[in-house]
Amino acid sequence: MRYSRIVATGHYLPERVLTNDELERMVETSDAWIRARTGIRQRHIAAPTESVAGMGERASRMALETAGLAAEDIDLIVMGTTTPDQVFPNSAVIMQERLGVAGIPAFSLEAACSGFIYALAVADNFIRAGSAGRVLVVGAEKMSSIVDWNDRSTCVLFGDGAGAVILEHTQTPGILDTRLHADGRYKDLLQFPSGIASSKARIAEDALQMKGSEVFRVAVAKLGEEIVETLARHDLDGNAVDWLVPHQANARIISAIARRLDLPMERVVLTVGEHGNTSSASVPLALDLAIRDGRIQRGDLLLLEAFGGGFTWGSALVRY
Ligand code: UT7
Repeated sequence: MRYSRIVATGHYLPERVLTNDELERMVETSDAWIRARTGIRQRHIAAPTESVAGMGERASRMALETAGLAAEDIDLIVMGTTTPDQVFPNSAVIMQERLGVAGIPAFSLEAACSGFIYALAVADNFIRAGSAGRVLVVGAEKMSSIVDWNDRSTCVLFGDGAGAVILEHTQTPGILDTRLHADGRYKDLLQFPSGIASSKARIAEDALQMKGSEVFRVAVAKLGEEIVETLARHDLDGNAVDWLVPHQANARIISAIARRLDLPMERVVLTVGEHGNTSSASVPLALDLAIRDGRIQRGDLLLLEAFGGGFTWGSALVRY
């Protein structure tokens, strides 16, 4: 049998940190409200000159260096992003050029905050099918470019950054399972409504829109079902999970999911306080951080999950 495993990870966070105190001076909000309702203390914001492809490249180079590999050793790039630099070339191709590996296939996919989980599932399936041997999987986002900085209900939530994972073919399973879902009936609850082909012209004030409390309710319900079902497929429960590496939208959602698994918060990787919600980048950023600081060890069982606009959601069960 052919499987895939995680060889190495990397990340990139822009230098500029935007604190809750600064946001208090921009919109009618407070550090106390943001911390209590979301757990967020700060987020990183990309410079105007920083691109999604550029942030993805930085994260990818860190992963390659950690693995002791050259970019030439990669034979496919899959990137999850909701904030592509251009409509086309897609951001994975722009990043491919920056990495100097012309010729290999490279594509980005949009699944909002579930983009990385979708990209990981696609990459795992390419490897299992024998269509790729070593895949660079990236989640990269410049959410600061699509939020309305006058809308306190959304602008306090998001941040920028990128995470990268290198997957490689193996005989013994690393990625044990991936599950993806979508339900377009919820499309109006979390969206960036204009697009190239839509009848609505792109207007300057167009921005991310979210009915937060409704999103919260569905996220907790769908993710709760998702992780329980994923573990049940493998005759496992929360006890078996060494680390939950969740999408980082809201600390309250994350703790509700951990409770559903009876998983103590000591076994949950929490980065939302420092990063905010970085959409597709949030899971690989959290994963890399916990690997780098030594919490996640080789052999650990990891449960990755994400939920985003669409709605889209999914999970990955990983033996690291
Ligand atoms: O990553 C993709 C998936 N996204 C998510 O999972 C996000 C899910 N949603 C959430 O995380 C939460 O719903 C939010 C953090 C967005 C909001 O928290 P909430 O506890 O659901 O608050 P709410 O939207 O019900 O608003 C409560 C109050 C409102 O005031 P009134 O109407 O009760 O007077 C809001 O106007 O809080 C007010 N409010 C704020 N106050 C201070 C909303 N945003 C702010 C703010 N500062 N930034």
